Amino acid sequence: MIQAELERFRTAHPRCLVEHARARGSLFGGVPMPWMMLWAGGYPVAVAEASGSRVTCVDGVEFVDLCLGDTGAMAGHAPAPVLEALRAPRGITTMLPTEDAAWVGEELARRFGLPRWLFTLTATDANRTALRLARQLTGRPKVLVYSYCYHGSVDEAFAVSEGGRTVSRAGNVGPPVDVAQTTTAVEFNDVGALEAALATGEIACVLAEPAMTNMGIVLPEPGYHEALRELTRRHGTLLVVDETHTFSAGPGGCTAAWALEPDLLTIGKAIGGGVPSGALGLSAEVERRLLSAEGADYVDTGGVGGTLAGNALSLAAMRATLGAVLTDDVWEHTIPLAERFADGVRAVSEWSVTQLGCRAEYRFAEARNGTEAHAASNPELERYLHLHALNRGVLITPFHNMALMAPTTTAADVDRHTEVFAEAVSSLT
Ligand SMILES: Cc1ncc(COP(=O)(O)O)c(C=O)c1O
Repeated sequence: MIQAELERFRTAHPRCLVEHARARGSLFGGVPMPWMMLWAGGYPVAVAEASGSRVTCVDGVEFVDLCLGDTGAMAGHAPAPVLEALRAPRGITTMLPTEDAAWVGEELARRFGLPRWLFTLTATDANRTALRLARQLTGRPKVLVYSYCYHGSVDEAFAVSEGGRTVSRAGNVGPPVDVAQTTTAVEFNDVGALEAALATGEIACVLAEPAMTNMGIVLPEPGYHEALRELTRRHGTLLVVDETHTFSAGPGGCTAAWALEPDLLTIGKAIGGGVPSGALGLSAEVERRLLSAEGADYVDTGGVGGTLAGNALSLAAMRATLGAVLTDDVWEHTIPLAERFADGVRAVSEWSVTQLGCRAEYRFAEARNGTEAHAASNPELERYLHLHALNRGVLITPFHNMALMAPTTTAADVDRHTEVFAEAVSSLT
């Protein structure tokens, strides 16, 4: 069935194939960024235009896009207010602040509740910075993460727990040191393992997505976040909440929706409407401790910051996105669409469907942590489903089975997925 779909893809996308053949002459794997090798067609569709919730390829095929750049385009592709801001930015990069910076800081503080912010270019950078600051403040060596988490290309996070030991995740490319030296991995939703790890006194911070989103969605069990906050406080460990994907839960992510109280908060991707942007929020107490830490160089070569971080262009994009695109009311439109997606999948399959705000996923078995979610994945089946959808004009993420709703997504877009998905399930059964 995969072979038949691959043939169908090749027939429909001859110009994409020509583009790919050319790109193979100069690009690693024939793509600008290695993840793009993962698209199910064997080569990616080459984009002619992406606008709102639609992507059109160079063969003139139009897709309903539920992948949305794996959250980078959760605001919809090329939203008009962002394009407007990009047309007349206050410069592009100067290593000086613009008025947009304080506006964005105030808006992020309003939404997420943390009073101080600094900017990066990606969520990965925000996470790396958070880990440095946490080690600086606590003087402790290790970071606690959940097995099969993903926080960007952050060395400490490529770790899993195996029989109580922390080991490198399979496929980890060139780890700088043995991950067991830097990281303790525990299972999500396991309060006992969390408590035991924190009791060692070695953990500078917990780096946590409030709900896991990178092995499909795994929601926290009742009481888990209360325990996480209480235990981290009790053991002097900082809590870093990564809202990069869980921003789907609402205008202030899960932090606002579930009244979480992180010490540091990281975010990227969607907040710039697709323009490289990242941000790191700090509690008042963390800021106070950072500023009083003797000998810490935050302004030059201490390892915090980047030449282009906080540049005028990305701040203009963040202001336009937060001020005029992903406004508070948008989730009233997008959350019901994710519900509609989830209902559609449930109506035609018995697979497990999970939703987090405007994001929904299906997987082939229930999971309460990353290891169970990993065990429930089925790459061949996923590839077939992705390819089948791709051949019928629907893009979902090439990783697991995620669909995301933008302000521009319509009920008809979701119904198109349901129709195609029903056809795929019936072809399988
Ligand atoms: C939860 C989470 N945090 C951080 C990142 C890193 O984002 P970026 O690759 O844009 O730096 C990702 C990327 O998928 C993510 O899923």
